[in-house]
Amino acid sequence: MYDSEINNEESERTAFRKAEKKYKIYYDNSKKKKIPRPVDLSEVIDFKSILDKYNCNDELREGVTALKCDFDRPIFCLKNRPGFYFIPSALSVEEQCQWIRESLTSFPQFPNRTNHDAFYGSIPDLFVSATQGKKFVFEERDPDSVDSHPKWKLVEEMDRLSGSDAHKSVQASLLLRKLRWSTLGLQFDWSKRSYNVDLPHKKIPDSLCQLAKIMAAPVMPCGEEFQPEAAIVNYFGLGDMLGGHLDDMEKDWSKPIVSMSLGCKAIFLLGGKSREDSPIAMFLRSGDVVLMAGEARECFHGVPRIFTDTENAEIASLESQFLDQDFSFLDYIRTSRININIRQVF
Ligand code: OGA
Ligand code: MN
Repeated sequence: MYDSEINNEESERTAFRKAEKKYKIYYDNSKKKKIPRPVDLSEVIDFKSILDKYNCNDELREGVTALKCDFDRPIFCLKNRPGFYFIPSALSVEEQCQWIRESLTSFPQFPNRTNHDAFYGSIPDLFVSATQGKKFVFEERDPDSVDSHPKWKLVEEMDRLSGSDAHKSVQASLLLRKLRWSTLGLQFDWSKRSYNVDLPHKKIPDSLCQLAKIMAAPVMPCGEEFQPEAAIVNYFGLGDMLGGHLDDMEKDWSKPIVSMSLGCKAIFLLGGKSREDSPIAMFLRSGDVVLMAGEARECFHGVPRIFTDTENAEIASLESQFLDQDFSFLDYIRTSRININIRQVF
């Protein structure tokens, strides 16, 4: 589901693929400077302007309603996608910064797994190493070792790169740029597309659980509390996309997936139960929270594009917050998006 390129043959096959192709980033190669080809965004639902209208008591656009509940900010629904909820600006700038920091430092650490594990084994302190300009050197593992990890062992090394070793080294910053996911709580096994309860894991941090419970509460079945057991953190750089998919490995679809957007603005496609259904496109901005429960759990969805240019990324408030703190986070988030989606598995 993590394709950077959509296979051409397939690209026109379904309504979902067509929409992915429409919004995906393409470059005009004719010019010296790589400039993204302009894209028609007129059909993309903008919940920020819907929120502005709502706050002015203006009529909402056709197909959008506000959920009646005592939550402290409006929750919007789509008439033809029951079970889908959008909470614009659900997170404060401080909360956004906190979860960006955690997503880059503590979340991609053992026993949490990342996309790098299969090849490199778990990498300690990737973000710090990257910002310090460090390199990792591979060392051949003893083939008789009982350790099940791949034959590479990652060793932090700054100066020893010479001669034949040179081709076996990799910049930590490159690995950071290629970080695509990490998993919290119960570990999701992508190869088997299921949760593997036998893998070592630690509980999702309490503060993240609390936040997810608050966000999920308005759409939970009466009298029940959301129990976060697993989370997937997705990291997007320019050109990265998340192909259309379903999240159907959790037992009880009446419980929502709580999905938080951080960093650069993105386009989210919410399809129907078939890939043939035309998806609804909408913007996801830093601080927005989406809930998918009930019927919406059966809807294909994906992220065909993120925006990293100053005008479209819409991260000015995040930037000024990080300016006073740590430039390394600022550097990363200027060209990236992070999504944390939290799930009740059982
Ligand atoms: C997912 C997902 C959406 C997003 O990880 O399953 O749908 O906003 N993410 O990145
Ligand atoms: Mn999903």
